[in-house]
Amino acid sequence: MVSPDLPVFSSVSDVDVLRADLVAARFTFDAVVALVGEDAMDALVREQPAAARWAVEQARSAGASTAGTDAGLAALVWVFVLGGVVESAELSAAMPGVGVEGLMRLGLVEPAPGGGVRAAVDLRPHAADDGLELWVASDVGAHHREGVLRKDHVLGIGQASLTLAANTVRRDVDTALDVGVGCGIQTFHLLRHAGHVTATDLSERALAFTRFNALLNYEQLAIDPADMDARLTLLQGSLLEPVAGRQFDVVVSNPPFVITPRTVGESEEDRFTYRDGGLPGDQLVETLWRGLGDVLAPGGTAQMLANWEIPSGAHWAQRLDEWTPQGLEAWVIQRDVESPADYAQMWLRDASEDRDPVAAQRRFGEYLEDFASRDVEGVGFGYVWLRRPEVGRAHGVGRVFEEVLREVDSPLGPWLKREIDAADALVGLDVASARAVVAEDVTTETYGRPLDPHPQMIVLRQGSGLRRTHALTTEQAGLVSACDGDVPVGALAAAVVELVTDDDLDADADADADAAAGQHGTQRQVRDLVDFAATLVRQGLLVIE
Ligand SMILES: C[S@@+](CC[C@H](N)C(=O)[O-])C[C@H]1O[C@@H](n2cnc3c(N)ncnc32)[C@H](O)[C@@H]1O
Repeated sequence: MVSPDLPVFSSVSDVDVLRADLVAARFTFDAVVALVGEDAMDALVREQPAAARWAVEQARSAGASTAGTDAGLAALVWVFVLGGVVESAELSAAMPGVGVEGLMRLGLVEPAPGGGVRAAVDLRPHAADDGLELWVASDVGAHHREGVLRKDHVLGIGQASLTLAANTVRRDVDTALDVGVGCGIQTFHLLRHAGHVTATDLSERALAFTRFNALLNYEQLAIDPADMDARLTLLQGSLLEPVAGRQFDVVVSNPPFVITPRTVGESEEDRFTYRDGGLPGDQLVETLWRGLGDVLAPGGTAQMLANWEIPSGAHWAQRLDEWTPQGLEAWVIQRDVESPADYAQMWLRDASEDRDPVAAQRRFGEYLEDFASRDVEGVGFGYVWLRRPEVGRAHGVGRVFEEVLREVDSPLGPWLKREIDAADALVGLDVASARAVVAEDVTTETYGRPLDPHPQMIVLRQGSGLRRTHALTTEQAGLVSACDGDVPVGALAAAVVELVTDDDLDADADADADAAAGQHGTQRQVRDLVDFAATLVRQGLLVIE
């Protein structure tokens, strides 16, 4: 039997039989981690399968493959996660309901060239922090097959997918949109808190994988397999074209943001659809970014991951500010910057293009010439959050472009939400008359010479979320240490400034002459300190009582 090129269900009973086998084999995320080990699992996400292969080989050599036993689980991991070959009988024993014939009919396995069977798709369990457990099928990855990936490769759950899912600020909404759905991972998370999700992709293959995965997980996702459209609509088309004229409460996208040199006469078949939008430079990201304002309902938010080019001599955020539609708030966090050469190497490796050294060398040169043609000095990567303000509601984020290169907490979404809520709560709030306390996760570090009574530097450090740090002035340090919730911030700021000014005057011979001029400066210092306190409140280092 020739297996189809895609996983397909022809009936709901097919789904139920496959599900029953996966459950009986204990093909769960936790069981797979227990089998291969946590480090090996992390390495797998980075497409480094050696440690996991070794662990599973040990398990397989220890026992015969039977449904519901660890040996059955080992066979499934070997085939579907690690790309191994098994005898038909072994797989049939591990999945007795569907059997190898059934797996071929569903497009999940195929005859291996040297005998036995192998996976036609990658199928693996996925578990999220909110308790969501799924099985997700995608195209087989680089470690399953020799050679370069197919151009219409449907991406599995990679590091970027996990990052976007973890960054998404989740709230109960009516409608959500996932642009570039791939195997469906963002959509499945959205279905947990959105009444209806619309998912788009240029690739019919991607939509077929998403449909298969949605059906396979219909119970967990609360989908009626006979009426999937009631909760999930799949639309083919480019970027926002399939949803023109519609608006959504939440939009997410892990778009094909990789910047790839265009070649003369190239066609869609020449591109890796999963990562290359087919436009020069970062134009695909720009087009999506500029268009997001049209599909956001009032109060609606969009989050995506992106790469952007940084021209020589320009500030990285300049173009991004221009791309942000009028009236939208934006919070952009640049997480990484690569040189053109490092960027080219990284993406040649990603699709295993570097397995052909001659072609890879030529392609590397094309990347560098392409970047040079636009005078690109670096390529930024980061997180994008946009919001269309709602009339009559306080919105305090405005436009923030910041670089955060240090490690941050994951999942980051709840922390982003906390900062957004704090920024909104600050609108119209008179911070000077509010009382504040230092957040639980905040510490100070002092730096100075041993035995020196005065530290040379005091650093305020946030222990979670974006893990921000602030090097404090003496006044700022005094203010933060006095924030115990008893006295309003403005009064504390005035007291701290007075104390520091008195100290300075004591040390100053011309104190009288300076006193009058100092009055004005003092007021400004107090205002600056209160503004600093407001920044700390917004960032979650101070909490208004
Ligand atoms: C990086 S993958 C992301 C897949 C999935 N959403 C995730 O988070 O893992 C990008 C997806 O965008 C799709 N795509 C490529 N060009 C597109 C376009 N012009 N419009 C919409 N989707 C596109 C690809 O087929 C692919 O499924």
